[in-house]
Amino acid sequence: MPSQQYERIKARLTGYGQPHLLHFWPELSDTERASLLADIERVAFEPLPKLVETHVRGHPSVHIGGRIEPVDTLPARADGKRAEQYEEARRRGTELICQGRVAVLTVAGGQGTRLGYRGPKGCFEISPVRHKPLFQLFAEAILAARRRYAARLPWYVMTSPGNDVQTQKFFEAHRFFDLPREDVIFFTQGVIPAFSHDGLILLESKHNLVLSPDGHGGTLLALRRSGALQDMKGRGTTVISYFQVDNPLAKPVDPLFLGLHDRARSEMSSKAVSKADDLERVGNFVRLDGKVQVIEYSDLPEELSHRRNDKGLRAFDAGSIAIHALDVAFVERLTADESSFALPWHRADKKVTCVDPHTGKRIEPDEPNAVKLETFIFDAIPLARNPIVCQALRREEFSPVKNATGVDSAETARRDMVLRAARWLEQAGVDVPRLPDGRPNAVIEISPLFALDAEMLAERKSEILPIRPGESTYIG
Ligand code: UD1
Repeated sequence: MPSQQYERIKARLTGYGQPHLLHFWPELSDTERASLLADIERVAFEPLPKLVETHVRGHPSVHIGGRIEPVDTLPARADGKRAEQYEEARRRGTELICQGRVAVLTVAGGQGTRLGYRGPKGCFEISPVRHKPLFQLFAEAILAARRRYAARLPWYVMTSPGNDVQTQKFFEAHRFFDLPREDVIFFTQGVIPAFSHDGLILLESKHNLVLSPDGHGGTLLALRRSGALQDMKGRGTTVISYFQVDNPLAKPVDPLFLGLHDRARSEMSSKAVSKADDLERVGNFVRLDGKVQVIEYSDLPEELSHRRNDKGLRAFDAGSIAIHALDVAFVERLTADESSFALPWHRADKKVTCVDPHTGKRIEPDEPNAVKLETFIFDAIPLARNPIVCQALRREEFSPVKNATGVDSAETARRDMVLRAARWLEQAGVDVPRLPDGRPNAVIEISPLFALDAEMLAERKSEILPIRPGESTYIG
């Protein structure tokens, strides 16, 4: 590289308080230099000095000021007086899907560190009999919904620079699970460096920075910057059906939810479940000074987590399952001025392997040595017009794969997939062998291509063979 260019970059980095990034430059090969420059190129430096001051050297306040109240939610099932309204909403949602106005969006850019799985999380094999990967379950559900509603349902998959190539190769290798390739659109989220506690960007090696995905809040800008938002508009999409790759029970499209969102003229709606316990590690829907908002489990004051209402029930009970409906026009509006749009940053202290910026020696920390920053999509809720929160049934829609073992693991997700399949079968009038303790005495998997819900399964009851005790059964 011409020395003038080098000096320019050095001056720029010095201006942002990060000149150490070039410390090892003299000893790098040409390829290593190119790799370092490419990393530097990916970083938006302008906002960093302020961010470092407030969120790295300083600790952002998690003190939640203001009046916190429970949020009103719409019930999962229509009670008497709502039956008509829900029927109308379901019709409306179905219409939106059939008219081609709905796109599906899965956020799959996370690093899946807790699960301890090395590949993109969507490639993780989860289904109990056929071991289908998460991506395949969603692809099949989308394919089934395309057939059911005679609609295109384009699927936008958000990756991150670290898993984009692998993710796309996976889809290629599986021939896009029979979806038309042009209807599966990948877009990549942004990255942000990790910092030492004194605000220096960490080096992963002498020629690479530690860069992490910027959180699922990054979806909004990534949609615009990648052209995906434009693509949606070109296809006539007005609503995005959003969910996380880690939840095998998620329904890619739900006519009732989409219809309720539309009827309420909401710009961003969400699904909630009743929390499993006071301290369940999910976001909490609350009203903060009158505005609907999600407060992470780690930030909700413990007193509020345990609070009971006058009926003796958990006052803050609406847990986020990270399923949203977002208007395309809302994303357009928020990101119209790309340079000024920002969701709040959240800080996490982590242990990150890196190299010493002066000696180049490898550091394997025993204690958190790094600050990672992320934005969260749910922080867009208070910016939306008329956001609504709809209750969903946990056993039907939520069993995330987060951890290698124990709660929210592959084991619990598979268990819940079998329980749901058994319930759907029994609702359709098919006998399911049970153990004395009530658990199904069979491993059952229903392909989304066979039935997307209990009603569809009931319609195909005559095609289902008897479920034999102790055996694995695949209904597909
Ligand atoms: C998340 C929510 C929590 C919710 C729970 C439901 C946050 C901070 N909290 O918790 O409120 O109750 O899910 O399961 O999100 N992702 C990206 N890019 C990123 C980061 C994450 O695409 O930069 C994706 C991941 O691939 C994953 C999802 O977002 O699909 C969840 O991210 P994760 O950081 O694991 O959130 P949780 O702490 O599990």
